[in-house]
This record gives sequence, C-alpha cells and structure tokens, in this order.
Amino acid sequence: LSSMASAAIVEHTFHVQNLTVNRLCQRRVITAVNGSLPGPAIHVQEGDTLVVHVFNKSPYNLTIHWHGIFQLLTGWADGPEYITQCPIRPGSSYTYKFTITGQEGTLWWHAHVQWLRATVHGALIIRPRAGHKYPFPKPHREIPIILGEWWNANVIDVENQALATGAAPNNSDAYTINGRPGNLYNCSQNPKFTYTYKVQQGKTYLLRIINAALNNQLFFKVAGHKMTVVAVDASYTNPYVTDVVLVAPGQTTDVLLTTDQAPGAYYMAASPYASAPNVSFDNTTTRGIFIYENAPSAAVSAPRMPILPAFNDTPTAHKFNSNLTGLVGAPHWFPVPQHVDEHMLSASMNNASFQLPTRLSILQAFFFNVRGIYTADFPNKPPVAFDYTNQNNSMNQALIFAPKKTSVKKVKYNATVEMILQDTSLIAVENHPMHLHGYNFHVLAQGFGNFNPKTDRKKFNLVNPQIRNTIGVPVGGWAVIRFQANNPGAWIMHCHLDVHLPLGLATAFVVENGPTPSSTLPPPPSDLPTC
Ligand code: C2O
Repeated sequence: LSSMASAAIVEHTFHVQNLTVNRLCQRRVITAVNGSLPGPAIHVQEGDTLVVHVFNKSPYNLTIHWHGIFQLLTGWADGPEYITQCPIRPGSSYTYKFTITGQEGTLWWHAHVQWLRATVHGALIIRPRAGHKYPFPKPHREIPIILGEWWNANVIDVENQALATGAAPNNSDAYTINGRPGNLYNCSQNPKFTYTYKVQQGKTYLLRIINAALNNQLFFKVAGHKMTVVAVDASYTNPYVTDVVLVAPGQTTDVLLTTDQAPGAYYMAASPYASAPNVSFDNTTTRGIFIYENAPSAAVSAPRMPILPAFNDTPTAHKFNSNLTGLVGAPHWFPVPQHVDEHMLSASMNNASFQLPTRLSILQAFFFNVRGIYTADFPNKPPVAFDYTNQNNSMNQALIFAPKKTSVKKVKYNATVEMILQDTSLIAVENHPMHLHGYNFHVLAQGFGNFNPKTDRKKFNLVNPQIRNTIGVPVGGWAVIRFQANNPGAWIMHCHLDVHLPLGLATAFVVENGPTPSSTLPPPPSDLPTC
C-alpha cells in the first residue's frame, strides 16, 4: 500500500510547432516541442502515471512514441503511426496516458512519423520509486547526453525526395550533443554551440546517453576518463569499465564517470560507427566539454580531445556489444524464459517487406476486427535457405524484390518468442539496430557469418544476458533474442536506422488477449485520432 501511495501522476503538455534556430551559419525552421531542441526531459519515478497532452501545431502529421516503455495494457499510447494509432493531424491533439511499472532507467520519447524524430525528441528518465535505490552508489549528479543528427535541409523533404527518386537520402550535416554541434563544425565557434558542463573534481556523475540520431550509430568517448556502464536500454548491467561506448539509434547507455583527473577541460565526443562498405555517410565529429571547477584557465582554453575509433572499427563495436551482461537480481531483472513457443529465423524480415497500412492502425483493426488492414501471414522463416555471407549470391539478389505488404505475426498471449536475427547482404551488409516495441528482450548470443544452429545454440547465455529493447545485429552476422509476449496489442519491430523503415525493414507482432481482464487490452481512449 505504501508503494501505491508514493505513485504520482506526472502531467506534461507538448506544443509541437515551428521553431527557428541557427545552426552551421543557417537560419532554419524546424519542428520542435515547446520551443526547444532537444525537447523537454520528462522525469518520473517507477510506478508513476504519465499524462502528456500533445497539441500538433506543426504542418505535419504527428505521433509520439515512448521508446522502451512497456505500455502494459496501454498499447493505445505506444505511438507508431498506423501501428497503434492514426496520426494526430495538424491542428488536432491526443493525450497519451500510461503507467510506468516494472522498469527504470534512461529511455526517451520521439516522433514516430516519417523522419520528424530528428528534431522531435527528448529524454524520459525513470528513477526508482521512493525508498528504492540504484544498484550502484548514488551519483553526485545525473547528466542526460542526447546525441542527435542535424540536417541543413528540412528532414521531411530529404526523406520524401529519397522516396520519390529511389536514391539514397542526403547525409546529415552534423551530429549534436544536447542539440549543439560543437566547435569542430563551421560557424560553430561561439561557445553557445558547444554543450558545456561544469563538474567538481573527485565526484561520480551518471551520464544518461541517448542516441537520437536518425541514421547513424555513434561511438562516444570522454578524454582522459574511463566510464563504467551500469545500464543499457533502462536495464541494469554488470558494471563494465570501458573508455568507449557504442550507442545505436534507439539505444541508451548509462555510465558512471568519476572526475579523477587533473583539474582541466576534457572534450566528450561522438563520431559514427558505419559498417556498410561503399555507402556514404556523415563522417564528422560532435563534441562537448566537461570543465572542472577550479581548473586553471590555461587548461580550460585547451581542452583535451579523445581519440575516437575509426568509423569502420567493427572489432571495437563488437567487443562493446558482446561484453555487456545483465545484472541478475537487480531491480526489474527477469530470468530468460527457458521454453520457447515460437522459433523465428528472421532475415531481411523473411522476404516480407513491411508496409504501413493507411486506412486504419493495426491495433484498431485487431481490436475492432476490421478485415483488410493487415494479413497474419508473416513467415517464421525466409522462403529459401541461402548463404547470407555471399553478397552477390543471385538468390540473395532476387530477395531484394520482396513483395511489400502489411504482414504481421500473430502470437498467443504469454508465448515465448525466440528470434534469430540474421543480417543478410541485401542492399548493403551493415549492422542494423533492430528495435522491438512493447517488450524488453534477452540477447542470448551474437556473432558473425551465418547462424549455425548446431554450434551457435551452445553459445547462448541463458543465465545473465543483457536485456535490451534495441539490438545492433552484427554486420554480416546474427543475434538471437527471446521475449515473452505478455502484453496484448500490436507491436512493431523495425530497424532504428530511419532510412530503412520506409524500405520495409520491419514487421509487427499482434499479441492476442489473455484469459482474464488483467490480460485483456481495454478499449481505446475517446480522443484516439481517426484516420
Ligand atoms: Cu524508437 Cu519504433 O522507435
């Protein structure tokens, strides 16, 4: 009862509208929330109910997704367009309401229509409920670090142009830390364009790092300092000491950083991990500064710069990703389901290229039994077995022309789903960050080449695997995940490199209701937007 009493209702209002900002010598009009980039940070405690009134005063269709939130029985608030709702039209509004239970840590919110999330995003930080603690010493301060990606052009135009021409979209013009590109970019020498944070010597800070970039994974380093990873995707990990962190779009990484160096100034910096060969990308570096209080001015005027890994440093990427393990027994830890009901081998999403419906969301079609919106024929396997390591294999090439349709996978309530995510060589061999809505999953194993059931199943970590909502499937390799479908609704799974979503690198799970009222999705709120 006492924990019930501590739960609060946290209410926000989002005005989504035009904002004029100066970046890289240009005056640009962007779409942003409440006049800020990044948008407002939301702070809640586990157990709280979050209510966000969203007013769409932008010229675009809009939805907001609460990335990583389970949305237990509140699937109507999940947000992806045409999956759980029709878009909020310009001039309209929708109130997202959900209770956040069973998870804590760093998550974020972002627009889930086209590429609008480039500028419509912010942190969503869930602290332990009153009387509960972190499974690590209490940090002196907590610092959200949102990594972003900036275009001089209007992002919706960039996307639409690419879709219309079939060409690759323009690369971004800068990366950003908390909305600022940093002084390595042209026209960014004014200190206001470099994110700066004053630290005290001898303290421990919790950096809550979020990759909100659209199309690039990012390495992150702080000069002269080691970091200790304590959580990823709002799931506690065994402490992992490293000098470099890799964060894929969608992922979050919480690290402890102790200011144990000589009083001075130290750059934090991020640059891309780009694993696709011969594909152009924005290979620039954003940076911000940690300045020690009492640092001599000579040191402050010459901050130390970290040396970031090369853009194609797959060994460093793989070492970071595969060395993380879950913290057994930490708050909200859950054991790996040992029995599997649905085995899926998913490669290029099984030769089904996903298409969003347009007349109604999948969740509405499911709830109201409307036919013709989706088909429940997403295959458990690709139609043919082939060699994923051979990029020029003619059978692989043929699969590029997968039919486009809204094909979903129906799953019984509480079934355990195991997915072998096999990176294929279609389009380009690349590390794809695959994100599942509505659930966290265990990452049982990952590796390179073709998944081999005989040998690779033996590598599964069924004891303390990392728990995530977004997994970077190794370039030219595979990853195996497992989740228990204990949340009825419609849940999209997609590549969080936004450039791949309109290409169809996605599917959706329709999870049936369970046997009791507490396992049955309630009807939608009355203000759910109509199509
Ligand atoms: Cu962070 Cu479907 O998204």
